[in-house]
Amino acid sequence: MEKTVILEHPLIQHKISLLRDERTGTRDFRILVSEIAMLMGYEALRDLPTELVEVKTPITTAKVPMLSGKKLAVVPILRAGLGMVDGILSLVPSAKVGHIGMYRDEETHQPHAYFCKLPKEIEDRLVILPDPMLATGGSAIEAVDFIKQKGCNNIKFMCIIAAPEGLKALQEKHPDIDIYCGCLDDHLNENAYIVPGLGDAGDRIFGTK
Ligand code: PRP
Ligand code: URA
Repeated sequence: MEKTVILEHPLIQHKISLLRDERTGTRDFRILVSEIAMLMGYEALRDLPTELVEVKTPITTAKVPMLSGKKLAVVPILRAGLGMVDGILSLVPSAKVGHIGMYRDEETHQPHAYFCKLPKEIEDRLVILPDPMLATGGSAIEAVDFIKQKGCNNIKFMCIIAAPEGLKALQEKHPDIDIYCGCLDDHLNENAYIVPGLGDAGDRIFGTK
């Protein structure tokens, strides 16, 4: 059953509030994005399948749950999604990593794809698709289109902040994916920036501008 989850954990909320603060510099911004991604990943991966495996403890042998070899891929939407990769990989270090390059035209706000490299056998994998910001939804919708065109239909999209407009658009265009949001904000402004938001996530992560 596909779902949208707005994460309400106080640790996530606190860290997102620090991200929003315009005084938070590049170093702390990066650290916070990574920590939030890890906390969100913990929630997003709670339905990973496990299997019982026999283990010999110092006391006895026991059948205990272990991840059942599910093939995972983390595919950030460049640039800003890159900031979330390490946090997710700290939970699932053997996941493969792909990249989808996308930028929004500043005038039209339409997404433009410039790069796509996905791991092999993507059709058999669970794909975690992180991007800190879901604004109009255009970038996420196109990234999901790409991954589906390659035959993968098992996708979890993760964003730190979503606008209601983008969330609705993504749900309508791709009703079959799971969506995890750290926070659902108020609206988009005339430049399609999220309000209150945190500004331009890519620029704040990489210190550009
Ligand atoms: C930002 C953000 C998303 C996109 C969201 O990227 O990281 O990818 O905008 O906007 P949308 O929902 O309206 O498509 P941006 O285009 O600024 O590129 P960057 O990460 O390279 O800075
Ligand atoms: N992209 C961002 O980085 N921030 C927004 O608020 C909207 C799009």
